[in-house]
Amino acid sequence: MHFLNDGEAVVMNKKKVALFDLKSEREKSLDIQTLDWKMEDAEKGGFPHFLLKEIVEQKNTLPKTGQINKQEFQKIAAKINEGCKIIMSACGTASYCTLAAKYFFSDLGIESEVYGAYEFLPFARFCNEKTVFIAVSQSGETADTLIAARAAKKQGAYIVAVVNARGSTLERMADCTLPVGAGPEIAVLSTKAFTAQTATLYLLAYYIKGVPEKAITKLDHLGKMLETWLTQNLLTRVRELAKSLMDHEDMYLIGKYLNYPGCLEFALKIKESSYIHSEGFASGELKHGVIALIQKGTPCFVLAMNDEVRNEVLSSAAELKARGGKIIGVAPFESHEFDIHVKTPDIGKLTFFPNVIVGQLLGYYLGIGRGTDPDKPRNLAKSVTVK
Ligand code: M6R
Repeated sequence: MHFLNDGEAVVMNKKKVALFDLKSEREKSLDIQTLDWKMEDAEKGGFPHFLLKEIVEQKNTLPKTGQINKQEFQKIAAKINEGCKIIMSACGTASYCTLAAKYFFSDLGIESEVYGAYEFLPFARFCNEKTVFIAVSQSGETADTLIAARAAKKQGAYIVAVVNARGSTLERMADCTLPVGAGPEIAVLSTKAFTAQTATLYLLAYYIKGVPEKAITKLDHLGKMLETWLTQNLLTRVRELAKSLMDHEDMYLIGKYLNYPGCLEFALKIKESSYIHSEGFASGELKHGVIALIQKGTPCFVLAMNDEVRNEVLSSAAELKARGGKIIGVAPFESHEFDIHVKTPDIGKLTFFPNVIVGQLLGYYLGIGRGTDPDKPRNLAKSVTVK
């Protein structure tokens, strides 16, 4: 692979690949790199769609994050431990990853700020040499994320790129890169890159605290739990659920703390894949307006885990149920508030991942049921390279 830089052009024929500098028109030598991606990673491998294949691959891509980038993690952790402030920024799914990371960081006592990259510029002035700016992007080519990272760099910030696609513009401008190693993500919807990016930031928190083994062990355990949970049984269960929800045009989701970004991501997967209107909210927001939307039979997803706010979320679920909402619990435990329950593995805060995977699968099956192309939804591009 040679990654083209600005101002370079290539002439290819059967015999030769020649690289030129556009200004001088002189031939240059290729800077060839070897990628560890395999041909079969970019094929469907027996699955009907890339999206389903990439969802199932998370059994392997998630635990893999613990095995790579050790030196880079240490380098970034050292920088942060010098007293640098952390700012994270991204767009779309990647921005929900940064929001989840904010909760993971805070759990370990690490402060961080999060901005949608398209809203970052008014705040770029607060970056300086004591800022570690973490830009998260599957493609590394998202225009708004690049603009935000350039603005932070201009202020003297140390730029970290958390990327999946290799050799991207973001990677090339960063001071340090954490490649997440999820392999090629072909479907327009981000799934395995999202979870690998989030796991990478989860690991970073433990590296900052000097106890990475703890996170690596937990991610290994997560991989094992996914092996036994993310099976044909689950796929069939979610497909049946999708059939029962197919004709609804609005769905709402609530969650608190880590399940809040989980809800945002779950809702985005449903929107992108099936074009059904779905909105995720922090459960605390319900009483402040959202509850007015609930009518008899409105599908309401409740994302929960065995954490410190489990009971608060269940009491919000009871409020939705009292207004006639059809409550679909996505959680490791049963509860009388749930009309339907999709059980996820009980793995502490890492239940975040299987809870989101249910949303990825549901989006996929809703899309199939409604006749969309889940790999290429209308109006969307894999990388948004314009502002
Ligand atoms: O390549 P990036 O991660 O920077 O892309 C950011 C968003 O455009 C992307 O996550 C988008 O929201 C996806 N379609 C989500 O599935």
